Formats: sequence, structure tokens, C-alpha cells
Amino acid sequence: MELVTGSRERPSASPDRKADMQNAKLILDGKEYELPIVVGTENEKAFDCQKLRDTTGYVTMDPGYGNTGACQSSITFIDGEKGILRYRGYPIDDLAERASFLEVAHLLMYGELPAGGQRLEWQNYVTRHTLLHEDMKKFFEGFPRHAHPMAILAAMFSSLSTFYPENNETDLEQNMVRLLAKAPTIAAFSYKKSVGQPFIYPRNDLDYCSNFLHMMFAVPAQTYTVSPAVHDALNLLLILHADHEQNCSTSTVRMVGSSRANLFASMAAGVSALWGPLHGGANQEVIEMLEGIRDAGGNVANAVAAAKDKASGFRLMGFGHRVYKNFDPRAKILKKAADRVLVELGVRDPLLDIAKALEEAALNDPYFVERKLYPNVDFYSGIIYRAIGIPTDMFTVMFALGRLPGWIAHWREQRHDPKARINRPRQIYTGPTLRRFV
Ligand code: SDX
Repeated sequence: MELVTGSRERPSASPDRKADMQNAKLILDGKEYELPIVVGTENEKAFDCQKLRDTTGYVTMDPGYGNTGACQSSITFIDGEKGILRYRGYPIDDLAERASFLEVAHLLMYGELPAGGQRLEWQNYVTRHTLLHEDMKKFFEGFPRHAHPMAILAAMFSSLSTFYPENNETDLEQNMVRLLAKAPTIAAFSYKKSVGQPFIYPRNDLDYCSNFLHMMFAVPAQTYTVSPAVHDALNLLLILHADHEQNCSTSTVRMVGSSRANLFASMAAGVSALWGPLHGGANQEVIEMLEGIRDAGGNVANAVAAAKDKASGFRLMGFGHRVYKNFDPRAKILKKAADRVLVELGVRDPLLDIAKALEEAALNDPYFVERKLYPNVDFYSGIIYRAIGIPTDMFTVMFALGRLPGWIAHWREQRHDPKARINRPRQIYTGPTLRRFV
């Protein structure tokens, strides 16, 4: 099967899109410097600072990188003010409504949706790599029963490099597909380990989502049938999480990949960054927050008050975003989907009512309005994961399964960029000046 590889990738933004507009002028210590301006295909603009230190002796200072472009990329576009999210130019709403997760993975990784017969070929290609090497099963025996599945996922991702070395480009491209295919198997096995049930092996007659659900919830000697509503809910969740440009975990994957570390080691680092409660770990924190409000009588006003009180150390998890200063389009889609999926499954979840009341209270409170804090992707996703039977400590693993094609796409884009260099930011030193050892 001839997979779409780098040769047929869509022409990305030319590697070095310089604007023909005026350069930016910088006046420092009475001297004038010119900084080239870079303009993207969506008219985003940047000063090119690659020669700043050599020419001026100054570096930029931007803790948290909120104003720093680390790269040029043709994978995902976000407009935080307008609540726009597109994968390779396709609006997230279109993909969420009509695509399969594997189609979106192909789009992110290779630049185009698989067309015609290629869709089935691609699905079969991924399916054929879902099995884990039998020796990898032994690793699960070493973990304590209540090991967090994100710890297992990071360990297993890194361990894949001991089975599948990267000796050449063909290995590399195959390892990307191996990782995409084996991640659901690793995730499902970590769940089966936590509940003390036997591992259920992947099946080649099931599509990506059905295979995962079967490995998670089937038990020997019982027939497990995948509900179309659950299948479609999972497909939607995975698509909505598939990429989000230079977020913390994707930037981590690029950072590690920039040293030419192998694919699996880079992805294990991405899993670790995603685990943090300020990032992908927030979906688990949201449910625990909603359960806390429920157990305290369901009064959302107290939670809103605590979130506004800096001394409390409490934040409304699932609220706020570094880029979206309007609504997060994914949260809007998930809010509607939560209502629909719960009705389809006949599930009543008081946490959904609490979440909606919390959103209503916060969006009418000046503290949140002034700071442009809206629900993000993590605010409603946990309600749906719960409804389809995913345990809370697996929520961030689900985020990782969704984000994996995005991480792979960015790692691959960087690996194919002839101008890519090892990432090595600078700093401003504020420690003791020279002193002698006595
Ligand atoms: C994801 O980058 C991505 O794209 C991430 C992601 C992806 O798809 O990869 O979208 C996924 O990680 C979503 C975010 C999940 N995290 C949470 O829901 C955790 C709660 N949210 C916050 O911790 C926070 O909003 C962040 C981490 C999301 C953003 O942090 P920033 O941009 O650094 O903002 P900040 O912490 O500087 O906050 C600005 C102000 C502060 O108040 P002031 O100092 O101005 O008075 O807003 C306040 C903060 O105290 N604030 C909150 C708040 N989030 C920010 N106050 C209460 N509750 C919150 N949730």
C-alpha cells in the first residue's frame, strides 16, 4: 500500500514566509534595527527574532511563551478571538459531524483526508498493527493495581522503542502507524489491569472505535455489542481532541523531537506533559470538582466564590484558556453532544445539571467576564466519558488517544523541516554575581 507520505503532502506555508511589507523597526540604545516580518496564510504576523541576540545583544523575555511563535506549521489553525479551530483548513464542526477519527488522523499526519479506496486501505493498515508484542504484556504485571493509567501509557510508549527501532525513514513512518494503532490496546490493557480482568485482544474485523470499546468492556464468555451511540460519542471526542497547534504537550513533543530523540520517547514526554491538571489532567479534575459540589449540596455559588478568591487556591477546572478569549468551539460542540448522548443512552447525570449551572453562574460574573474565562474542551468532555463507561482516572488517557495523531503530525512536520534546529531557549540570569570559593 502506498501511504501518502511527505511527497504528496499538501504544500505547507512556504518554509520561510517573509512578508513583502515593511520590516519592523527596533530602536535600542539609540541604534535602529530591522526585524523581518513573517505573515501566515491566515494573516497572523510575527517579528522574526532569529538574529536578534547576534545583532542587538538582547533576547526576548516571554515566560509561558504566550507571545512567542516557536515554529511555522501548516497543521492546525486557531483564532482565539473568533473561536475558530481548523485541521488542515477543515473547520472542526465539519469534521466532528462527518469524519471518522482515523480519517482525521490521516488528514493531520499526511495533510489530506484519505480518498476513495484509500480510506479502507488506511483503516486496514492501522488495524493490522493493533496487537502488542507478547513480551509487553509482562510489563503490566510489574505495575501496582492502582497505578495511574497515564503512568502506564508513558512507560509503554517509551518501551515501544525497544521493540521497534528507527533505523531508516521506512521504520519511522511505520512506527508512527504502529503507535497510533497500539495506543488504544495499551490504554484498554491498563484498564483491564486496574479491574483485575483478563486482557481482551484487538480484533481485525472492528473499526478503531469499536475495537477500543470491545477491548475495554468485553469480558470472556459474554457477547459485547458496541452501541452506535457510544461509538459515535467516542469518535466525536477523539476528533475534538486530535490537535490544537502549540499547546503544552505538543510543544513538549516538538521540544524532545528537536534533539532527534526517537518517536516513542518524544510521545512519552507528550503524555507526561498532558497529565498536568492545568492541561489534559483538567478533565479528571472537572468531574472531581463537580462531584465535590454535588456532595456539598450542589450550590455552585460557593464554587464560583472560591474560584474568585486567590487565597483559596481553587480554580474552576475546565474554565479558561490561553488562546480562546471567547468560546472554545470544542466546548460548544461537547455541551450539545452531552445532552444528546445522555438521552440516547438513557442516562441521567446530575453532574451535567451542575456543570450547566456553574457555566451560567460564571458567565454572568464580572470576574470571569473581565478575564474572558469560558468553558474549555475539558469542561463537558468528562460527562460524556462517564456516560459511555470510561472511569475517571482514564479521562486523560482518552485525551491522549485523541491527541496522538496531532502529536505525530507535529513531530513529523518538524522532522521533515530542513531548517529545524534543536530547541534551546535563552534566559536572563538573576543569581549571585562572581564570588570566590573560600
Ligand atoms: C487544555 O493550550 C491548549 O490548547 C490546551 C488545550 C488543548 O487542546 O491542548 O486546549 C487543552 O489544556 C485546556 C485547559 C485545561 N485546564 C483547565 O481547565 C485548568 C483551569 N484553567 C486555568 O488554570 C487556566 O485558565 C489555563 C491554564 C487554562 C490558562 O492559564 P493562563 O493562560 O496562564 O491564564 P492565567 O493562569 O494567567 O489566568 C489569568 C487570570 C488570573 O487572574 P488574575 O491574576 O488576572 O487576577 O485568570 C484567572 C487567573 O487567576 N483564571 C482563573 C481560571 N483560569 C484563569 N480563575 C479561576 N478559575 C480558572 N479556571
